Amino acid sequence: MSKIKQIKIILYKLKEIIGLFLKKIFSKKDKEYTSFVLTETLASYLYPKYRFSEFGRIWFEDKEFFRYYEKYDKNNYHSADRKFFLKSLLSLIQNLPGDTVECGVYLGASSELICEAIKNLAKKHHVFDSFEGLSNPLAEDGGYWHKGNLKAELESVKKI
Ligand SMILES: C[S@@+](CC[C@H](N)C(=O)[O-])C[C@H]1O[C@@H](n2cnc3c(N)ncnc32)[C@H](O)[C@@H]1O
Repeated sequence: MSKIKQIKIILYKLKEIIGLFLKKIFSKKDKEYTSFVLTETLASYLYPKYRFSEFGRIWFEDKEFFRYYEKYDKNNYHSADRKFFLKSLLSLIQNLPGDTVECGVYLGASSELICEAIKNLAKKHHVFDSFEGLSNPLAEDGGYWHKGNLKAELESVKKI
């Protein structure tokens, strides 16, 4: 088991213990804010580069959006902010001329949002992809991604 996985398991256990402790001493509303402050403080030590946004973001409560998001990924929310921003922008396209297009479609999550937004409009949605995943990263792309990552099957995108 990788070290990061082991640390995640320990943190998960700790989360349960801290959650029970906070539940005992705070009301539900105060507990949520306290959890936020504790998490922000801890993150500022562990990963100072990450900037926390403010407490009480309403879109975190958007159950319909997260149902959609979790169809594609239940393991992380790394692109949830971008997807929500895209969904919000799409509410403005009614009077814009032209069709829509996504270049680099992966599993089709963003295209699903686009198709939903144009379903009653006289527009067509076009998608382009090699369906071979990422190409060989260059030095400036960093070391996180590798050739072939984010490869999706054309057939699964067609189903959307
Ligand atoms: C980051 S994913 C796209 C994520 C997607 N836009 C979303 O919002 O979920 C990148 C996609 O680009 C495709 N891709 C990468 N390089 C490509 C190239 N040179 N030509 C065509 N598609 C490419 C990959 O196959 C992959 O599906």
